[in-house]
Amino acid sequence: MIIFAMGDIIRVGINLSHISRCICLNPSWNKPDLAQLVKRFAREGNEDVKISLIVPCNTVHQAIVEHADEKEIESLIFKYGGALTEEDLEKYERKDLSDKVVVTRGRVFLGTLIRNSLDSDKRKLHMFFRYMDGLNKEEMELFVETYGHLFSELYVKMWDRGYGGNNGRCVAGLFKELENENIISGRRYADLGCGHMALENTLFDLDGNTKNRKIFNLDINGHLLETGRTILKVKNANSTPVIHSGSFTDMKDVYQDEYFDAINSSMAIYCTKLGHNRKKNLHKDERVHSLLEFNRILKPGGVMVLTLPKNACSNEEFEVFTEQMEKHFGFEIITEYTGQSRSTDSSSSTNYFSSHVLVCRKIKAPSLKDLNLADLKLTRTKTKKNGGAKKINDPVEKDEEKGHIHTEFQINNKNFECDVANAVEKRTQRAFLENIERIRARLIRIYEDNGNSFNNLPKGTKAELILHRIRVIDYGHNKPGFIHLDDPNPVLRPWSIYED
Ligand SMILES: C[S@@+](CC[C@H](N)C(=O)[O-])C[C@H]1O[C@@H](n2cnc3c(N)ncnc32)[C@H](O)[C@@H]1O
Repeated sequence: MIIFAMGDIIRVGINLSHISRCICLNPSWNKPDLAQLVKRFAREGNEDVKISLIVPCNTVHQAIVEHADEKEIESLIFKYGGALTEEDLEKYERKDLSDKVVVTRGRVFLGTLIRNSLDSDKRKLHMFFRYMDGLNKEEMELFVETYGHLFSELYVKMWDRGYGGNNGRCVAGLFKELENENIISGRRYADLGCGHMALENTLFDLDGNTKNRKIFNLDINGHLLETGRTILKVKNANSTPVIHSGSFTDMKDVYQDEYFDAINSSMAIYCTKLGHNRKKNLHKDERVHSLLEFNRILKPGGVMVLTLPKNACSNEEFEVFTEQMEKHFGFEIITEYTGQSRSTDSSSSTNYFSSHVLVCRKIKAPSLKDLNLADLKLTRTKTKKNGGAKKINDPVEKDEEKGHIHTEFQINNKNFECDVANAVEKRTQRAFLENIERIRARLIRIYEDNGNSFNNLPKGTKAELILHRIRVIDYGHNKPGFIHLDDPNPVLRPWSIYED
């Protein structure tokens, strides 16, 4: 049956599912209204309907319809991503769009300028993460080549107050705990998929590496490694970190067998591709290959810490994953520290940090007998609505939004902390006081060699004191003292050269 009607006759509430052909005069310019019109016909059992909208040619009506179409395309691209056409480029009169890149799963798109100006750094970073989820090595290398610098810039900028920083502090706190409990013995570590040397940088903040750890950092993104090196250099000019740009899927040319006392891989293993072939070429599967490599480079008895984002998989999937580590990959799970981490420094039931944590010990070489790849699956939590993105009401997500910095954590009933800011302040203070002791010893010698006086010191000595930002005080009453110009409170706290 054919209907020939004015647009505003065909309204919500009318069922026209028996009509197979519609010719509509004077259709609405409003897109949601038009969508409603289509829905009157295109219903279950009547999908093969054809609708024509008649608009007078070369009139303001035609211009308005075209404008509405353009606006809709723009908003769809904004919502889902899409490629710019030559026409778009002309319209925006922009040639260089290299910093206007948006990546969505499986494909790389250039976003429209509208989309890019509206997207926050956080959202762009999430898009990168979604894209990185499950790439094979070649795809990852291509990604790094094209967007490695951009990813590195955004990642490091957002790290401290974001999910990565909270996980980094959780992992560093956990490493300290495992060291203190002698679960990790030996100090040669590998951080695989280290980003900007997240473990080395955080542990340095925490204790200035008084434990003499030697951390070997490996990441496929050289930009991140260089940024990490620079960050560490600022904190410790003498630092000479060991870095290697490469893939942890195959480290044969980089690290020898049984070399490390401990391995960390934070939020990285889920990036590797998991094949669909259940039986054949298991060794070639990149996630399997990476886990075999992790086992290979670890000493027997060595400890491996793996963390995954909370939304990478369900708790049940994670449990299956940990079982596979024991069954097929030669590890024994250290159950006290394996499960879901959670921050404990906020009483809120919605704003907290959480991740999946696996701590295990190498006990033997792997045997992939009976391994089913489906058991290594780490699939993102899905909702029907968003078809693959995070759950909208995920508390972890909300927390990230607010940029909470967590420093106290719990796994099962084990508590540990990583109060970096406090640790840095304490260490700075300790270093300052140690320096004061050295100055004191030197000033006692100067004072006594100068006839128990700081007056009329030799020129060279005066220059030395100025160079070291020291000002001596001698009021002639046996209480010689000094101030150090780097002292946070020098006026209120002149130091006596003889301890009181
Ligand atoms: C989410 S980031 C985590 C970085 C760091 N571990 C942290 O906790 O901040 C994932 C990292 O894994 C790295 N990565 C992914 N696949 C890799 C591979 N096959 N080999 C080495 N690094 C890889 C990425 O370059 C990225 O730096």
